[in-house]
Amino acid sequence: MKTIVIANWKMNPATFREARKLFEATKKIADSAKSIAIVVAPPALYMRELRGAYMGARISFAAQNACFELGGAHTGGVSLAQIKDARVQYVLVGHAERRAAGETNEDTGKKVAAALAAGLVPIFCVGETKRSGSGEHFLFVKDQLRAGFASVPPAKASRVIVAYEPVWAIGSDAAMSPRDMHEMAIFIRKTVVEVCGESGHKVQILYGGAADETNAADMLRDGDVRGLLVGRASQDAGRFAALIRALGDA
Ligand code: 13P
Repeated sequence: MKTIVIANWKMNPATFREARKLFEATKKIADSAKSIAIVVAPPALYMRELRGAYMGARISFAAQNACFELGGAHTGGVSLAQIKDARVQYVLVGHAERRAAGETNEDTGKKVAAALAAGLVPIFCVGETKRSGSGEHFLFVKDQLRAGFASVPPAKASRVIVAYEPVWAIGSDAAMSPRDMHEMAIFIRKTVVEVCGESGHKVQILYGGAADETNAADMLRDGDVRGLLVGRASQDAGRFAALIRALGDA
């Protein structure tokens, strides 16, 4: 399985012109990093056009969010069928910034199941808002995982990618230590196996939260993760190139 690096552009850049420029640079980076699977998650408004114009095979695309309903009266929503129709393969579910805007654990469960049913790969995001000495963050993440996998057929569990993003590290100066990530990765796998059975062992786990060129290689080597979900460092072509270079042949 290849290392996967997801470029989450969030609500950036401000113009499509800039988005196209960033995508052109990302394409060059992807061409020089054959052992890494690069996924770009642009704003929904840019996604279809960027995807439509891309003839290569080195980059895949992800939607940043989706509705679980098939269609209907959901002003502002983007459906999984519309994402599929744009030839996009992945969809982020339960990103911390969506949860902060009101998405519940129950919503994420519906979205993960609906994404699988639609033939998309859900990148299911979990992560505690704060850490405590008594380990409550493990219970917090466990609740998120149980809800997200609640309606996943055991045979499909290994298709879900889990992105662990501790909320306190997102947008901060420092990523979590690889040692703490390693501990959390074991916990995530154990919990998914509890919910879905043995196929849960195969779930691919990513880390996100201040990931950049200074910490990416250590995280992949010692954090028990198969990839990264990158915000700021993916929105600047120079930084993203440095991050991918730092991974070498990860
Ligand atoms: P930063 O890499 O900017 O901390 O953002 C992480 C994130 O939320 C990616 O989804």
